[in-house]
Amino acid sequence: MEIILEKVLNRIDIPVYERSIENVLSSILTTSDFWKIVDYSEEPLPLVAEIIRVLEEEGLVNINDNGITLTNKGLDFVKKYNIGKREDFICECCEGRGVSIKPFENILKEFKEITKNRPLPKHEFDQGFVTPECTLARVALMHSRGDLFNKDVLVLGDDDLTSIALMLTNLPKRIVAVDIDEELMNFIKETAERLNYKNIEIITLDLRKPLPNKYSKAFDTFITDPPETVYAIKTFIGRGISSLKGERKAGYFRITRRESSLDKWREIQKILLNDFNVVITDIIRNFNHYINWGYEEETRAWRLAPIKKKPEEIWYKSYMFRIETLKNSKGFEEEVNIGDELYNDSESSTT
Ligand SMILES: [Fe+2]
Repeated sequence: MEIILEKVLNRIDIPVYERSIENVLSSILTTSDFWKIVDYSEEPLPLVAEIIRVLEEEGLVNINDNGITLTNKGLDFVKKYNIGKREDFICECCEGRGVSIKPFENILKEFKEITKNRPLPKHEFDQGFVTPECTLARVALMHSRGDLFNKDVLVLGDDDLTSIALMLTNLPKRIVAVDIDEELMNFIKETAERLNYKNIEIITLDLRKPLPNKYSKAFDTFITDPPETVYAIKTFIGRGISSLKGERKAGYFRITRRESSLDKWREIQKILLNDFNVVITDIIRNFNHYINWGYEEETRAWRLAPIKKKPEEIWYKSYMFRIETLKNSKGFEEEVNIGDELYNDSESSTT
């Protein structure tokens, strides 16, 4: 174990622990598919890839067209270290999200119909969208926390088309949707016209720039899905918090384990608590399930994957966070002058 840890440690700029190696081995006992190993192990993809490479060098795993499997030596190794198979007991009713979308069944149907011809994810903007069930579960979650009915809601980055689901519920008083992608915004605009929905504003904006002044302290609720770098999280969530009217307002965003180590999670949580002075009220594991986005072969994840085979099942998931503002909470309004670092750090891989 020490040799493996040492080797991985020397080769990669991501925190690695014995637990990381245990998690990967445990997942290989469950599945031979690289993408599912990343999913089950809940370690950053580049780290999983490096661990597997070292395990192969040490003769513990075999990598071939059938996938990644333990050798006899590997089986002895997991026995020696008492490592068992990874099991995931997800609630069948809610897929682990803790909210029911039954009350929104008709809206789900309508949402699916409308989004059938939606624009496809764009690599340049790090896009990737979730299943329609996730989008509706998000609506159910926000509504159940008292964050939608008669509220002013800001959607910061909307490749999931959350604003369309929100329009269909007719719950918010007002919706503002902001995204960098003109085509996506036009799709939302056309949908609003077709639904004859009036209480929505649609703005095309690069969130490196601050929101227009009139949106400062103007909302009860925001939702965003930032790229997984500390920069992007600070910028997107900070802008969201600045847009809230004041204390006891809510924000929603997603953080994944696929592209963020727990060390990075801690950095993020420190920013939330220390810089923004907000409180985390909910963290729901693997709430968001992303449909495989189609440009896999262009990503770092693909270059790192030990087997070049496209994922067949959903493997990219993220946790849903809900925060609430308190007295003295403050966001972030400055313009940021960063390029690629907004999207990429050593742990990211899907950009
Ligand atoms: Fe459940």
